[in-house]
Amino acid sequence: MSREVHKTIRLNDYRKPDFLIETVNLEFDLDETRTRVKSLLTVVCNHDRCEGIHAFVLNGRDLALKTVKLDGHDLRHQDYVIDSSSLTIPQVPDRFALEIETEINPRDNTELSGLYLSGGNFCTQCEAEGFRKMTYYPDRPDVMARFFTTIVADKRKYPVLLSNGNLMSSGDLKDGKHFAKWHDPFPKPAYLFALVAGNLDRIRDSFTTMSGKKVDLSIFVQHHNRDKCAHAMESLKLAMKWDEETYGREYDLDTFMIVAVDDFNMGAMENKGLNVFNSKYVLAKPETATDADYQGIMGVVGHEYFHNWSGDRITCRDWFQLSLKEGFTVFRDQHFMEDMTSRGVKRISDVNILRTHQFREDASPMAHPVRPESYVEINNFYTLTVYNKGAEVIRMMRTILGPEGFRRGTDLYFSRHDGQAVTTDDFVQAMEDATGTDLRQFKLWYSQAGTPELTVTRRYDPRTKTLELSFRQTCPPTPGQEEKKPMHIPVAIGLLGQDGHDMPLRTAGATEASTPARGTGRTGGVETRVVQIKKPLEKFVFSDIPQEPVPSILRHFSAPAKVKLDLSDNERLFLMAHDSDEFNRWDAGQQLAVKLILQLIRDFQLGKKLRVDSSFMSAFNKILGSSMDDKAFQAFALSLPAETYLADFMEVIDPAAIHEARRSLQRALAMELRDTFIAVYYTNQDAGPYRVDQASIGRRSLKNTCLSYLMELDEPGIRRLCWEQFRTAGNMTDVMASLANLANTDCPERPQALSEFYETWKDDPLVMDKWLSIQALSPLPHTLDTVQALMKNPVFNIKNPNKIRSLIGAFSTNSVRFHEPNGDGYAFVADQVLAIDPMNPQIAARLASAFTLWKRYDKNRQKLMKEQLERILHTPKLSKDVHEIMSKSLA
Ligand code: PHE
Ligand code: ZN
Repeated sequence: MSREVHKTIRLNDYRKPDFLIETVNLEFDLDETRTRVKSLLTVVCNHDRCEGIHAFVLNGRDLALKTVKLDGHDLRHQDYVIDSSSLTIPQVPDRFALEIETEINPRDNTELSGLYLSGGNFCTQCEAEGFRKMTYYPDRPDVMARFFTTIVADKRKYPVLLSNGNLMSSGDLKDGKHFAKWHDPFPKPAYLFALVAGNLDRIRDSFTTMSGKKVDLSIFVQHHNRDKCAHAMESLKLAMKWDEETYGREYDLDTFMIVAVDDFNMGAMENKGLNVFNSKYVLAKPETATDADYQGIMGVVGHEYFHNWSGDRITCRDWFQLSLKEGFTVFRDQHFMEDMTSRGVKRISDVNILRTHQFREDASPMAHPVRPESYVEINNFYTLTVYNKGAEVIRMMRTILGPEGFRRGTDLYFSRHDGQAVTTDDFVQAMEDATGTDLRQFKLWYSQAGTPELTVTRRYDPRTKTLELSFRQTCPPTPGQEEKKPMHIPVAIGLLGQDGHDMPLRTAGATEASTPARGTGRTGGVETRVVQIKKPLEKFVFSDIPQEPVPSILRHFSAPAKVKLDLSDNERLFLMAHDSDEFNRWDAGQQLAVKLILQLIRDFQLGKKLRVDSSFMSAFNKILGSSMDDKAFQAFALSLPAETYLADFMEVIDPAAIHEARRSLQRALAMELRDTFIAVYYTNQDAGPYRVDQASIGRRSLKNTCLSYLMELDEPGIRRLCWEQFRTAGNMTDVMASLANLANTDCPERPQALSEFYETWKDDPLVMDKWLSIQALSPLPHTLDTVQALMKNPVFNIKNPNKIRSLIGAFSTNSVRFHEPNGDGYAFVADQVLAIDPMNPQIAARLASAFTLWKRYDKNRQKLMKEQLERILHTPKLSKDVHEIMSKSLA
């Protein structure tokens, strides 16, 4: 059997480009099925001499080549070589002009990479390798050029014509067409190019930068979405201000534009001056968007805006350096949101994502370093490891260097590399040079995959009044990396005395914490120290410790590691009540809950009756009954660890047992504390108009947490309460909370709520995404049938990534129904992977990742999942995206 073998690209094979491009003149004559793209490149050799030595190779895919001209002369067929992915001109001078004309079909572009149509409008997506689907070009990030773009289109159908940079001129042409010419003064790689043409409404505002320059801000959306842009615009202005204050970064063009489109493979894209967004991260009004949506919008608007410096002005040398821009920019958006909302709560939710999803990736056959060493399809490496673990790596550097040192480092990085395409090594070098710190060992975070484990032991000596903490670090093997070197791990530590206050810390070798926990209204000082773990075994001795303390380790989650520390339940309860570090206060409760649920799982597997520990119950009750200032924190503290996080602690994952055990604990808590839940539910009810400030978000979050506990009671009265909330709530947060609860319950209100919701919102695609996903996530037995039926509903569209993610993607994370022991869930998802792959391989590959952890399950499920993996892998004409995931999973 012959199968096309896909080529592996390796970091070690990196060579600088043979040719650079000075200017690019592009002309798009837009047509739904036959768009003409003319490109005029001024090309220069990037070596001392090129003539006759280096052939000029341009990337290109799915293009109909019309003409090629070199210095004004038509090239004949024998003057170049063309294959399915490139155009090669063997003989070129040291400097020349190349003119290429191609034809493409945007309507048939279901991959949503390159030029495509969304909602009847033209838009482009070029990262990572979409530009080559429009014209032949050296499509690699280290080739940076100045772009001039002319767009020609029918004026009535496409009144708005946009590209990067500044509008130079526009006007009418014959045959009802018009044109616009744009110029972007900043050299950029092709992946940052963008073009949009459509019938769009424009929401305008402005921002005055720190040097007094006025920048025009615009958000372009379909006309009916005009009333949903205010929050994105506010978020943009906050982000612009924050980047000036926090990093000294000022915006550099006269205009900044955001366009929202419904069909988009990812969240959004940082094209220079013209960000294109998945409409999910732009559109919001209280009736249609939840608090989480509002926060997601602010985070993503910030993220894309911050890319202007961390990504656009300074970009990646090659795609192995993806985390250079993504890890850094995620860190920037997380920090921005910590400043805009609540530091502890935001950290808790970011760590939740990391621990439940990135740790899984690190433990899977797809595990890779933050800077991968090889890939087959780069689109498969836009991962939680590159993004979120990459952000942790930046955060650790800030912890090690302190905020001022880190800022000196970023200042140096931005000034030293402005206008360049660089590497993660260059980033670290700037940090080292600006602060005189040796980060050589630290750089292992970029090259070693896997989640390090820290085993902490302690010895208190009452005679010498010293506490010795020892840290032993290990890191499990990952594909291609059997042996790991010890890492440089910054561990933030506090020691709590019997009064619950932090003790003053004195030790040789520990530095002051760069991000000390903020006081939380308690009396007494807050003391956090960061110790640097570098060797396989490190010991630190703290002196002048009058009594045996309770250690609080890895405060604010100072490193993306797993900590093992033999705290007693009582000590954890103590931390839960007193730790000055909000993150660890929360985490102590999570650790207790994990331990308890794991016990319940064993009981469940043995068919034993489930019983809940009373000390846990009373600690939980204390949190529930207390009136905390930060209700969002209180809601987090009352939430049990996610099923996927719990799975991480099991040798063999038993999804049904995890689900049952977790729910039984939830039910037991609801039964025991029923009246308190009801009281807290009512006291956190908001009268008056909907507001999205922190306090209101916190109250809704707490109230809805109470509601979901209460719904475990299966009482008609509670269901009426839930139904009442569904009917009367004036905002989507409360509507969705109640609807999700009803969707998880087999009750008469369920079908009624779902159908009323559908009738109200069936014309709003983003709201329908929510409706689809809550049904796909329901643990009720008929969920798979429902999902299959929903695929035939007119609101579903298999060509739209948001719809695929909301329905099929959500189902693939439904731990009970996807993992049904009869294998139907697996077969269904595999069918969909195969159906989607020919249309949109990127999305198919993401969906296919649901199978990668197959070896962690029991023999029966392993066999069933493996069957589907093999079935997919052996399907003819499989994309390299899906092929890479499947073959690595089976390796
Ligand atoms: N670079 C985008 C971001 O992180 C993500 C993206 C990647 C979008 C590839 C589209 C395609 O902001
Ligand atoms: Zn990004």
